[in-house]
Amino acid sequence: MSDACPSPMPLLDLRADLLRGAAPALRPLRPAEARVWWMPVPPPEETGPSDTEGGLPDHPVWSRLEALVSEDELERAWRFRFARDRMTYVAAHALGRLMLSQATGLPTDHWRFTVEAHGKPEVISPDGGPRLRLNLSHTHGMVAAALTKTADIGIDVEHFDRSSDIGLVARRVFAEDECAVIFAGAESGHLPRFLRFWTLKEAYVKAIGKGLAQPLKRISFDLGDRSLPPRMRLDGATDPAPEWQFRQVLPGPGHVLALARETVDPAAPVTLSEVTLGL
Ligand SMILES: CC(C)(COP(=O)(O)OP(=O)(O)OC[C@H]1O[C@@H](n2cnc3c(N)ncnc32)[C@H](O)[C@@H]1OP(=O)(O)O)[C@@H](O)C(=O)NCCC(=O)NCCS
Repeated sequence: MSDACPSPMPLLDLRADLLRGAAPALRPLRPAEARVWWMPVPPPEETGPSDTEGGLPDHPVWSRLEALVSEDELERAWRFRFARDRMTYVAAHALGRLMLSQATGLPTDHWRFTVEAHGKPEVISPDGGPRLRLNLSHTHGMVAAALTKTADIGIDVEHFDRSSDIGLVARRVFAEDECAVIFAGAESGHLPRFLRFWTLKEAYVKAIGKGLAQPLKRISFDLGDRSLPPRMRLDGATDPAPEWQFRQVLPGPGHVLALARETVDPAAPVTLSEVTLGL
């Protein structure tokens, strides 16, 4: 997995702003920039409540996060049976709002969303401004958000303790050459490589808004290395699809993250930050 991991990422400490009830200081999004944030969310056994109890941890940061999300979002959060899922749901939606507000200077309660045909939420952008594109992902222990102006974008973060039969899933949804890469060498490398392919595919199907309604077998990836980002081929084409760019990082020892974005400019910057709230 080392080739998925660039140097350590800048830490964006938003705890003080959050506790003051302030939006993060304005940092406008450059025209072709893709901005990516991720944030570790410790499991409930470290912060309480127990995993089956209602509510969120009894902690000022969690109270602020709860206050950031909309009533609808909160209602959805309460439907999760397990505290860890409620926590990552609330954290991801709060992170998305903080990100939008940092990029625009608008308050965190400004943001409203519509839902597209396959369930993709889209930001209702401020009148007269550029179309903002936000995508969220949450998994055990980690949440992530990605933001662009105009360009389609998708993000996926997964944790390494996935328990499903990866052999079965890989043969069903991955191309033959991908399976050969995943299952080469020692077994300890199989799951990490499976998740690299999986997150890249999910990031792409989320960017195009189709989710898993898009047949994954038609999409195949070269994982790339330190000097070359991952590249995607569609429908068995020999050349990578130039309309899409990918990044992959390890946001922590137990997680892998992938970003897919429509190519607006091949040199367009991707800014990556780990957000900390002192959770
Ligand atoms: C999108 C999908 C791949 C996400 O899978 P996942 O790994 O379990 O979840 P992630 O945490 O990475 O992403 C979930 C987030 O992606 C966003 N999302 C949901 N559907 C999406 C879509 N079609 N495209 C892009 N993003 C989507 C949402 O913000 C969602 O979080 P939320 O439910 O808290 O709002 C999967 O849910 C899917 O395939 N959905 C499509 C289902 C569909 O076709 N529905 C049609 C009827 S509405």
